[in-house]
Amino acid sequence: MIRFGVLGSGKGSNFRALAEAFQTGVLDAQPVIVLSDVEHAGILDLARTFEIPCHFVAPGPYRTKMSPEAEIEIVRLLRDAQVDFVVLAGYMRVIKEPLLNAFPGRILNIHPSLLPAFRGLEAWRQAVEAGVSEAGCTVHLVDAGVDTGTILGQSRIPVLPDDTAESLHARIQVAEHELYPRIVREFADHLQAGE
Ligand code: GRF
Repeated sequence: MIRFGVLGSGKGSNFRALAEAFQTGVLDAQPVIVLSDVEHAGILDLARTFEIPCHFVAPGPYRTKMSPEAEIEIVRLLRDAQVDFVVLAGYMRVIKEPLLNAFPGRILNIHPSLLPAFRGLEAWRQAVEAGVSEAGCTVHLVDAGVDTGTILGQSRIPVLPDDTAESLHARIQVAEHELYPRIVREFADHLQAGE
């Protein structure tokens, strides 16, 4: 079985979509551990609901990245759980060398824009403010940059004339919950096939 770990900082709706997609056991891949840098994050409550082992890892003094010690602890937990790859689901910190080097080419992220447009925070708000007619979400491999790695898949949705940042974000999230399980499944299939 292919095993993956999930990292998230927030409410965990993408993790929920993944857990539901993979819980049937029909697929030969499973989320086996959930880690968060936020002690009371919704994603940890969801992991308990799905009976998937989960841990809070104290992030250390920085706001945008884990301390090196904390990231090394994340790597240790992922290795102990024998994960084959890592899925970021609303994880709000930049990934640094310890994790990148431990899982090269094996960390996936979902970003709420049609990359390369609107990297960084609140991409849905950036899209509304830029007045674009189309938005969406992107699953990509994680590299040392912010939202820069190889694109694995995208979903496109129209921006409606009366969209606010919030209404657009809500519709992007619906698209995310379909896209992410599909791309994670494809990625797991490739690993399974030894590609
Ligand atoms: C999603 O919009 C995702 O694109 C971004 O962070 C948000 C996470 O939401 N990376 P959730 O915690 O999965 O609900």
